[in-house]
Amino acid sequence: MNRITLTKPDDWHLHLRDGEAMKSVVGMSAKQMGRAIIMPNLSPPITSAAQAKDYHDRIIESLPKETIFKPLMVLYLTDETSKNEMLEASKTPEVYAAKLYPAGATTNSSNGVTNIRKIYSVLEIMQKEKIPLLIHGEVTDPSVDIFDREAVFIDKVLSKVVRDFPELKIVLEHITTKDAVDYVKGSDKNIAATITPHHLLANRNHMLSGGIRPHFYCLPILKREYPHQDALVAAAISGSNKFFLGTDSAPHYKNEKESACGCAGIFSANAAIELYAEVFDKHKQMQMLEGFSSFFGADFYGLPRNTEKITLEKLSWTVPKSYDFSGAKVVPFFAGSELSWKLLD
Ligand code: DOR
Ligand code: ZN
Repeated sequence: MNRITLTKPDDWHLHLRDGEAMKSVVGMSAKQMGRAIIMPNLSPPITSAAQAKDYHDRIIESLPKETIFKPLMVLYLTDETSKNEMLEASKTPEVYAAKLYPAGATTNSSNGVTNIRKIYSVLEIMQKEKIPLLIHGEVTDPSVDIFDREAVFIDKVLSKVVRDFPELKIVLEHITTKDAVDYVKGSDKNIAATITPHHLLANRNHMLSGGIRPHFYCLPILKREYPHQDALVAAAISGSNKFFLGTDSAPHYKNEKESACGCAGIFSANAAIELYAEVFDKHKQMQMLEGFSSFFGADFYGLPRNTEKITLEKLSWTVPKSYDFSGAKVVPFFAGSELSWKLLD
């Protein structure tokens, strides 16, 4: 197989940032993806339906000419999110979901939720209005080891939300552990998960063995190859419609990652579908790529599948060492390394 044509994929988890930074990267996603769920962790965050609509319009204005790309906006939940605001969101056509960041879990999450009980009345509305809850699934208790924070979150928080809101649609975002794979597999049809290219292609050795590599630092942090990375790969290529594409592409300035306290986030929008193709091809499951990339996410969100197509060719190319990013540089995942599939223009 030297060429594959796929229904245009969607990215169910994307950070676009704002202003000039957004203008540097949005065209890359628009080239590859039909739609994307846009993360609301700007500074300040997108906490109202009106802000989500404005951010949506700024994204549309930043798109390169003649590109068709639909940003699906997300409300950032805080302890103060009101039932009225959620009702407003349910009536705002640009808004498709709401995001739970446990306060302090990751980049720009300080306004997140301090205790899940504080948003129970809002979750009630989301369940009723069928607004999906997107979850950064990590506890923030400093006494919990960073490598265990996802598994503890599933056990202590997610299981209770699922018990108390059995009809709520939930996407456990960017899963990183076998615990998460097993949980999602064993849950009913309302629960799904996104998987990033970096958690499929890398593990903590890539970040920490033979030197510390800040461009592999993201949250949730990369885990062990066995059993975690292996379980993620098995889930992605399995053909289960509970697992779908979400890059979590999160651009940061090169100098802010290469620092004494480097920030979390891996940029992959430049080569997202090629990175996923690398995984599926390595495991001889290219025929499973389209479901994961282009069907299962749309089906879960209850949206029509895209009708446009993209074509990938088996053609080795080297990922650039960096891209211009708002007057500075961003270093992509796989920078300077070879990929074996290339998206045709
Ligand atoms: O690595 C990450 N970067 N994880 C997140 O949850 C947020 C993201 C960002 O916004 O940079
Ligand atoms: Zn993210």
